[in-house]
Amino acid sequence: MRDVLISPSILSADFARLGEEIAAIEAAGADMIHVDVMDGHFVPNLTIGPPVVKALRRHSNKPFDVHLMIAPADPFIADFAEAGADILTVHPEAGPHLHRTLQSIRAAGMRSGVALNPATPASLVAPVIEDIDLVLVMSVNPGFGGQSFIDSQLRKIAELRAMIDASGREIILEVDGGLNRQTAPRAVEAGATAIVAGSAVFKGGAPAYADNIAALRPGVKV
Ligand code: DX5
Ligand code: ZN
Repeated sequence: MRDVLISPSILSADFARLGEEIAAIEAAGADMIHVDVMDGHFVPNLTIGPPVVKALRRHSNKPFDVHLMIAPADPFIADFAEAGADILTVHPEAGPHLHRTLQSIRAAGMRSGVALNPATPASLVAPVIEDIDLVLVMSVNPGFGGQSFIDSQLRKIAELRAMIDASGREIILEVDGGLNRQTAPRAVEAGATAIVAGSAVFKGGAPAYADNIAALRPGVKV
């Protein structure tokens, strides 16, 4: 079984204590910090932007895995790079020039990712497979934490696994939405190498974080 990265989504953290929450999930075994950026337009919710990412940067040494649910995304690429994002992931529907957007992300010094909504096909990734370091499969419709995993996305994960293997490139295959100790092993079995989880990590408060994170790793008995 492949090593799996766990990327807790701070959307489910205590927003009044975000710095402490990030330090706590790092201490509890998080491999990356997933930051959900929403604009109230591309998705029906509003969250945080570059100034908050910048303020959080000194609270963790782990890569910041920043998921942009905003349209357009291009005007904010430089701001997120400057704020300390390590991976910047965009939805193809956010703008008309995905290839150019991915090039801009890399030119700004970050790793580039593409996020696929539940109805967006895996095939969309093929023409840009050389230009990405991460594919994010949304297993819920983006906008909110705490939704249920959409089973049909397992097929898409398997399809992307085959595409990535055929490419011979090191691309993280990340899954986001409704992941918990029941659904995460299914996503990993289908080929995922990174698991995003909000509610499943933050439930129970800081004393529970280490167990919550460990339970998402493959091979851990639930
Ligand atoms: C949804 C976000 C997810 C969300 C996951 O738009 O992209 O990262 O926070 O939350 P859970 O794990 O609670 O489904
Ligand atoms: Zn996300």
